[in-house]
Amino acid sequence: MFPITRMRRLRSSRLRPLVRETELDVKDLICPVFVDETITEPVEINSMPGYSRLPLDMIADEAGCIADMGIPALILFGIPAKKDEMGTHAYGEDDVTQKAVRAIKKEAGNDIIVITDLCLCEYTTHGHCGVVNEAHEILNDPTLDILGKTAVSHARAGADIVAPSGMMDGMVKAIRNALDDNDFKDVPIMSYAAKYCSAFYGPFREAAGSGYAFGDRASYQMDIGNSNEAMREVALDIEEGADIIMVKPALPYLDIIYRVKKKFGVPTAAYHVSGEYAMIKAAAQNGWLDERRVVYESLLSIKRAGADMILTYFAKDVAKEIASK
Ligand code: PBG
Repeated sequence: MFPITRMRRLRSSRLRPLVRETELDVKDLICPVFVDETITEPVEINSMPGYSRLPLDMIADEAGCIADMGIPALILFGIPAKKDEMGTHAYGEDDVTQKAVRAIKKEAGNDIIVITDLCLCEYTTHGHCGVVNEAHEILNDPTLDILGKTAVSHARAGADIVAPSGMMDGMVKAIRNALDDNDFKDVPIMSYAAKYCSAFYGPFREAAGSGYAFGDRASYQMDIGNSNEAMREVALDIEEGADIIMVKPALPYLDIIYRVKKKFGVPTAAYHVSGEYAMIKAAAQNGWLDERRVVYESLLSIKRAGADMILTYFAKDVAKEIASK
């Protein structure tokens, strides 16, 4: 006790780095990329200043640029030219995500890990993550087959990891079976396992053109008040064959990240989502927050809570900053 113990002894700027418990590394980052089949120039996303959707022919260069910064992985979100009720353009050989993956693999080869977001909401006219009936119910089981097919089409194009985000029950198992049946036994699944029904996804829906025509996502995404339920979701996904599990959003759910990592000890990803990005950008643009420091602190906190990897729209900014240190 004081005066023998003086916590301030190790807080001098010289000694501080020696006793820091958590560090953020560029290797922890996964960079989201939006590829839009309908555009020929980058289109900035209004609610995500500094972030754009990219046309197909720019995607390989972007991947190369991300890889050159030392970021190990990107996650691709495809925005198709055509949507329909069943999301059939999610799984065609020549659909947007498949084309983008092939372009990246051709240019950047194994320089970067290509993760594909695997969901129907960008591909359906109603914008929901599953098949919908006339009563506007989102149907679980008929969706699984489509997700399986989509996973195989991504793997065939060369995806290194598939990341189902639709929160359908049994989706991980269905995708694992489909991949295995088609000789893609070594393609891992990163499952959005504890995905909350969050208002923080607002800007993403503009970015990915995946706003929904009716209802909400409450029948499939998790209740924001629940923590034990997240443990059950994660346990199920691991049992079904998930290799990496994800918690989403990140900063408002640090307790979930912590519990998941502690209980399961599996590779754990956290998604620092579009709304988390927008909040920081808006405050920074007003001169109310120091963007650089707030971003670093946010991501470091997510890692300190237990995340092994972080999906974040700040990936490139942080990579630059780490490199300049
Ligand atoms: C699609 C999906 C969403 C996000 C990632 N995949 C949106 C949603 O569930 O409505 C959100 C990502 C973000 O907000 O950055 N299922």
